[in-house]
Amino acid sequence: MGRRENARETALKASCAYYAHRAYYEDLLVQRQRRWAETTKRELDFLEHAFRADATRPIKDVLDIACGTGRHVFGLARRGYQCTGLDYTPERVQIAKDRAKSAGVSVRLMQGDATRLKYENEFDAVLALYILFLLPNDDDVLKCLGQIHRALRKGGVLVCNIGNPFYAGKHWFSMDAIYKGLRVIEEHAPGIHSTEIVRLRDFDPMHGVAWWQETSIIKTPDGTHTFPDRERLRLFTYWDILHYLQAAGFKEIKCYTNWKTKPPENRKAETLIFVARKD
Ligand SMILES: C[S@@+](CC[C@H](N)C(=O)[O-])C[C@H]1O[C@@H](n2cnc3c(N)ncnc32)[C@H](O)[C@@H]1O
Repeated sequence: MGRRENARETALKASCAYYAHRAYYEDLLVQRQRRWAETTKRELDFLEHAFRADATRPIKDVLDIACGTGRHVFGLARRGYQCTGLDYTPERVQIAKDRAKSAGVSVRLMQGDATRLKYENEFDAVLALYILFLLPNDDDVLKCLGQIHRALRKGGVLVCNIGNPFYAGKHWFSMDAIYKGLRVIEEHAPGIHSTEIVRLRDFDPMHGVAWWQETSIIKTPDGTHTFPDRERLRLFTYWDILHYLQAAGFKEIKCYTNWKTKPPENRKAETLIFVARKD
C-alpha cells in the first residue's frame, strides 16, 4: 500500500472508530434533547425550501450519503419523500435500521462509502451534510461529488455544507477553535450526561488539516463510558467547495449562509450550505 493510501486508511479508520463508539449515546442525545429536535427541524425545513426553490424537477427520491443514525432521512420520509441512507459506520446504520423497524418508517438503509457510490440517474436530491470535511483527501472529495452528480437526475439538486473556517465566533470548526486548541463540550438529556474533551493534536496550516484527540466521558444509568478517539478534519473555504462542485460537473450553484428559509446573506456565516443543480 502506498503512503497516500495508508494515510487514507488511517483517516477512514479513525473516523469510523470515533463515530462507532459514540453512535448509541449520540443518538440518545439526538432523540432526547430539545436543541437537537429544533436543529433537525430547521435543517429539514431548509432542505424542503431548497428542493422547491433550486431544483427544476419535483423532488421525490432522496439519497443521504452519510446519514448517521438517520435524523434527516427519517424526517424527510415522514414528510413524504422516498429516502435512501448510507453511512460508512455499520453501528450507525444498525441503529437507523432498528429505528426504521420500530417506528414503521420506510427508508432504505445500508452501509457504504460516500466515495464509492454506484448510482446513475436515480435520485432527485442528494444530501452530503456534515461529511465533506471528513473525507480523507482531494481525490475522495472529487470522486464523491462526481459520483453524486452521476447519481442525480437532471434538474435534481445536491445539498452539502461545511463549517466556515473564517467564522470568528465560538464554533467547533473555526480558526478560533484551532488556535485555542482545547474545547470542552457538555451535553445532557434525561438519562445521559456527555463530556467531550477535544484537544488539538496536530494542525497542518498549509493543507488545512487538523487531527483532534477527542475523549468522551459518557454517564448513563448503566455506568460511565470513556472513549478516547482521534478525528481528522479538513478545513474548506467557500472557494474550495465552489471549485470542487464545478469540477464535478455542477453549473448552477448557490451558497446559503444559514439554515433559514428566507436567508439574509450573512458574510460572517458560521456554516456555508451549497445547493448545486445538475443541468
Ligand atoms: C458528523 S456525522 C453527520 C451525520 C449526518 N449527516 C447528520 O448530519 O446527522 C458524519 C457521518 O459521516 C459518516 N462517514 C464518515 N466517512 C464516511 C464515508 N467515507 N462514507 C460515508 N459515511 C461516512 C460517519 O460515520 C458519520 O455518521
